[in-house]
Amino acid sequence: MRCSAKALFFMTMALLTAPAAGLAQTDAKKADTPVDRGKAVFIDRERGHCLLCHQVSQIKESFQGNIGPDLSNIGARLGPDELYKRIADPTEQNPNTVMPAYFRTHGLVQVAQAYQDRPVLNASEMHDLVAFLLTLQGSDRQE
Ligand code: HEC
Repeated sequence: MRCSAKALFFMTMALLTAPAAGLAQTDAKKADTPVDRGKAVFIDRERGHCLLCHQVSQIKESFQGNIGPDLSNIGARLGPDELYKRIADPTEQNPNTVMPAYFRTHGLVQVAQAYQDRPVLNASEMHDLVAFLLTLQGSDRQE
């Protein structure tokens, strides 16, 4: 009895950890350049979730929002500094924007405890995101 309970425990643990390990592996394989990592941040629902409001024709995800402008050509229109500023704190450009500030820590209201005094994205995620956005030059599909 003791033995099978133990076996059951290990089987359950194996089942629980297998999908997570698989996911981590594919993510790591996909995201090995700044541009790839930036694309992952852009799509990720836990981090950028930019597709909630923006469309990018080079990305194949089916659910893309239309609250914000199409970004398929943004790399041809804005340089790195401009892009960085728009993402870090869009209220500098438009105080009434609905776009969240991704790299600002002051003046955040009603945020979860975990996010208080902490930007949504960290410095390297911001860097990778800008690298990805700079590749968006026109509506041709990547890949
Ligand atoms: C809740 C909706 C929303 C989310 C989420 C969002 N944005 Fe925006 N974004 C907007 C809106 C609306 C605008 C239009 C400008 C404004 O409101 O000031 C905009 C503008 C922009 C612009 C400037 C576009 C231009 O044509 O000048 C960039 C670049 C941008 N967003 C990038 C991002 C990135 C990158 C993310 C994810 C990290 C993101 N946005 C997440 C709503 C959003």
